[in-house]
Amino acid sequence: MCGITSYCGNKQAIPILIEGLKRLEYRGYDSAGFAVIDNKKNIIVKSQGKVLKLEEKKAGKKIDSTFGIAHTRWATHGEPSEINAHPQTDCTKKISVVHNGIIENYLELKEELIKKDHKFVSETDTEVIAHLIEENFNEDLEDAVLKSIERLIGTFGIAVIHSDIDHKIVVAKRGSPIIIGVGENEFFAASDSNAISPFTKKMIYLRDDEMAVLNSDGYYIKNFKNEILEKEIETFDEVSFKTDKKGYEHFMLKEIFEQPETIENAFRGRIIENEGVSKLGGLIPVLDRLKSINKLIIVSCGTSYYAGLLGRYILENLTELNVECELASEFRYRRLKLDENIGVLAISQSGETADTLAAIKEAKRKGALLLGIVNVVGSSIAQITDAGVYNFAGPEIGVASTKIYTSQLVILTLMALLIGRYQGLSYYEGSQVICALKNIPDKVREILNDADKIKKIALKYSKYRDFLYIGRLYNYPTAMEGALKLKEISYIHAEGYPAGEMKHGPISLIDENFPTVAIAPDDSAIDKMISNIQQIKARKGKIISITNKDAKKVIDISNDSIIVPKTIPILQPILNIVPLQLFAYYIAKQRGCNIDKPRNLAKSVTVE
Ligand code: AGP
Ligand code: GLU
Repeated sequence: MCGITSYCGNKQAIPILIEGLKRLEYRGYDSAGFAVIDNKKNIIVKSQGKVLKLEEKKAGKKIDSTFGIAHTRWATHGEPSEINAHPQTDCTKKISVVHNGIIENYLELKEELIKKDHKFVSETDTEVIAHLIEENFNEDLEDAVLKSIERLIGTFGIAVIHSDIDHKIVVAKRGSPIIIGVGENEFFAASDSNAISPFTKKMIYLRDDEMAVLNSDGYYIKNFKNEILEKEIETFDEVSFKTDKKGYEHFMLKEIFEQPETIENAFRGRIIENEGVSKLGGLIPVLDRLKSINKLIIVSCGTSYYAGLLGRYILENLTELNVECELASEFRYRRLKLDENIGVLAISQSGETADTLAAIKEAKRKGALLLGIVNVVGSSIAQITDAGVYNFAGPEIGVASTKIYTSQLVILTLMALLIGRYQGLSYYEGSQVICALKNIPDKVREILNDADKIKKIALKYSKYRDFLYIGRLYNYPTAMEGALKLKEISYIHAEGYPAGEMKHGPISLIDENFPTVAIAPDDSAIDKMISNIQQIKARKGKIISITNKDAKKVIDISNDSIIVPKTIPILQPILNIVPLQLFAYYIAKQRGCNIDKPRNLAKSVTVE
């Protein structure tokens, strides 16, 4: 969702800004724009739609500029349009601002500024920032930005330039990421390291309530109390930034096929086989506290929430902990008493999801031990938590999460092993889990080798308008996640349900036009799943089952079956979700959908 990039150096700025915007496209956006200063003239180019359109608009214009700011917008205040696209500017048209986030008190500020004769042209909350800076400007841009952000309530990552001030970019952040890139005589600031990674691998992550000033000689960083800060420069390797499709038609397909490696990356070097336990370096600093907690609350959203739901079963199975799993967007409304004996675990691919951030800030206030499972290194959630584990799965570009979900499940298993082995879990039980885990990558490969069979089944069902997904126990979250994949990318109505709940309502939907995907592996819930499938068949519903080859009874009563290899029950969902990712993918492709960037969705949801 939304992106910022900016450049200050001695090369032509526009190609660098455009390249940055292209590398932010995967996050989802509806319009784009940039502002550069050419000979003290503020030149703003904006367009609704793709970055390509922005490039076309720029083509032919002779612009000579070596610093500027750029943005991809995901509208929150005001429809997607050229006027509402960023940069937004002030009455003098000298100040340009790009902004990620939401200014909650913008109406109040707008009224105040209108009374002072400021003229607004857009419907955005962002425009108030430009006018506020104008109001506070007295030859010193940095000072004007600082005075203005004191008035802002809400979240922001901003970059600001002024056409009278040569080679100066001021950036600031609260609740939305800003990263500084340090090159050879050139400096960058962006909301996502992908935007600047082709130009430099040296980066500094700003924390909330910090700002930076970039100019042609260098940069400095301050906090909002105007105190200069010394911050460490981190160097990233090439691998963390790989964003090409490697010959696959879509990033989503590439990421589905990467899973044997990403699953292995999640556990490689993290198991001690001869002790039947895991070793998670990121948790070592809090190990004593971790041993003393008696309850763990998992908070997350979307796919990461479904990973958490399954995590609850895994942790309950391997540890003595009391485990709750809560949608991050609801967690903050609960009247929960938290203390240092309770752990709160945030699961997030992006590490920037606003709801999850808000939930853990609430938990921090109440003194809980904050843990994270995060893919994006240095992201806001990774910074706020007391300790955590990275997925190391490389960037996930497809909006529909696939490889991160399976990687999250592996890490949850490792966490459960670690905690469980300090409690009742025996060496033998721990070793069994490790042994099964090590075989998962090959079993995923087996499923991927069957992609053509899965495609055939998907095409057969691609014209239906509604689907029900059901599963029990460990595969109830699989049903939820499978349904989410289908609706996200194919826009088909799909409901995920715990199979036992079906008879309490959704069964009324079933007829010959409403197929059901039944996740029914050969486990302790199989007989109950068979009963549920029979109930659907009795109402002429078609059944596509995800099952194992020995589950003959399931295969016999299904219209179509996708056979997956068998593993221990707690790990079976890692295998079961893979064909459902492919099923959704092939249906969406058949329907001509925009698979990597489905409508209305963004890769990281930075608004509440
Ligand atoms: C997944 O396919 C979705 N795009 C979405 O539900 C996502 O999982 C959710 O927004 C949470 O994101 P996070 O893992 O980055 O916090
Ligand atoms: N709230 C701002 C707007 O609607 C910024 C949205 C974004 O983060 O892209 O313009």
